[in-house]
Amino acid sequence: MLKLDNVSKVYRVGAFGGRTMTAVSDVSFEVNAGEVVSLIGESGSGKSTIGRMILRLTPVSRGAITLNDTDISAVSSTKDYYRHVQGVFQDPFSCFNPIFKADRVFAMIKEAYFPQVSAADWRGRVESALKSVRLDPGQVLGRYPHQLSGGQLQRMLIARAVLLDIRLLVADEIISMLDASTRIDVLNLLADLRARGLGILFVTHDLSLGNYVSDRTVVLRNGKIVEMGRTELVFGDPRHPYTRSLLASVPRLDVKWIDEPETEDGDAAGPCPYHDSPEESRTRPGLAEVEEDHFVACSGCADHPPQAEPRTLAKENA
Ligand SMILES: Nc1ncnc2c1ncn2[C@@H]1O[C@H](COP(=O)(O)OP(=O)(O)OP(=O)(O)O)[C@@H](O)[C@H]1O
Ligand SMILES: [Mg+2]
Repeated sequence: MLKLDNVSKVYRVGAFGGRTMTAVSDVSFEVNAGEVVSLIGESGSGKSTIGRMILRLTPVSRGAITLNDTDISAVSSTKDYYRHVQGVFQDPFSCFNPIFKADRVFAMIKEAYFPQVSAADWRGRVESALKSVRLDPGQVLGRYPHQLSGGQLQRMLIARAVLLDIRLLVADEIISMLDASTRIDVLNLLADLRARGLGILFVTHDLSLGNYVSDRTVVLRNGKIVEMGRTELVFGDPRHPYTRSLLASVPRLDVKWIDEPETEDGDAAGPCPYHDSPEESRTRPGLAEVEEDHFVACSGCADHPPQAEPRTLAKENA
C-alpha cells in the first residue's frame, strides 16, 4: 500500500538558508493494509519529518513515496489524497483554529466529502465516531479548543479519521498526552482500525508502546534506518548495537535506577551485522537481511566506517 523508496529530506537552514541539513537519509520501508508499523528513534531522528512527507506537509527531497503504486507527489487533488490518508499529531492544539469550535473539523469534512448526507444523518455519524473514541458527544460538541484537553482534541482527530474511512493513518506520538486509562482505549481503537484493514504508521520514541502495538518496527537513527523487520524479531533478537542500547535503556519496573547496569554503547565495536552477513543477504541498499523480514545496517565497523553524520551542516554545493 504505502511505500517509501530511498526517501531523503534535506532542510535549508541558517540565517539565509545557505546551509543544508539532511534530516532523513535514504529511507525505504512499506506499510501494508491491516498492518501497524512503528517508527522508533530518539528525539530528532527524523520520525515526524517522515510522517510530514507522507502527509504531503513537506516535500520529499530525493526518492519517492507511493500509495498503491501512485507517486503521492503526482496526486493533483489533495482532497482525494486526504480522503485516504490522515494524520494525528503530538500537538493536537496546532490542528484546531482557536477561534472556531473544535467540532468544525467535522463540518469541514461534511462540506468537502459528504455534501449529500442530511444534517441529521451526519450528526448521527459524528456522534458514533466520537463514542468510538470514548468521547461523550454532549461534552465535546460545541466547545472551543481551549475548553478541551489535549487528549480530547487528539481523540477528536482520530474520530475525524474514522468518519473519513481512510486507508492509512499516521499517528505521531499520539499517546503522549493521554492518561493511562485513555491510552489503552486509544490503543484498542487503533487495533480496531487495523482489523478494518487500515495501515497505521505509529511514530513513537516509547519502545514498549511500539512493541505493544506494532506488527513491524523501523528503528531510525540520525535519519537512517539501522534495523527493521517483524516486531518480535527486532525486539526479541536485536542485531544492531543502537537497537540493543535503546532496548537496554528502557527502565524496568522491578529495578531501581541506582541498581541499573550500564547500558551498551550504541556505537559499541563488535561483529558488524551487515558486513558479517553474506553478500547475497544485502537485498536492500545499506541493509542486510539477517533472517526473514529482519534487516540490519552496518554498525560503523572497521570495514565500513560511519560516513559523516547526516546531521552535519553542509554548505550548499560544498
Ligand atoms: N522545518 C525544518 N527546518 C529545518 N530543520 C528541521 C525542520 N523540521 C525538523 N528539522 C530538523 O530535522 C531533524 C529531525 O526532526 P524531526 O522533527 O523529524 O525529529 P523527531 O524524530 O520527530 O523528533 P521528536 O521525537 O523530538 O519529535 C531535527 O534535527 C530537526 O531539528
Ligand atoms: Mg516528532
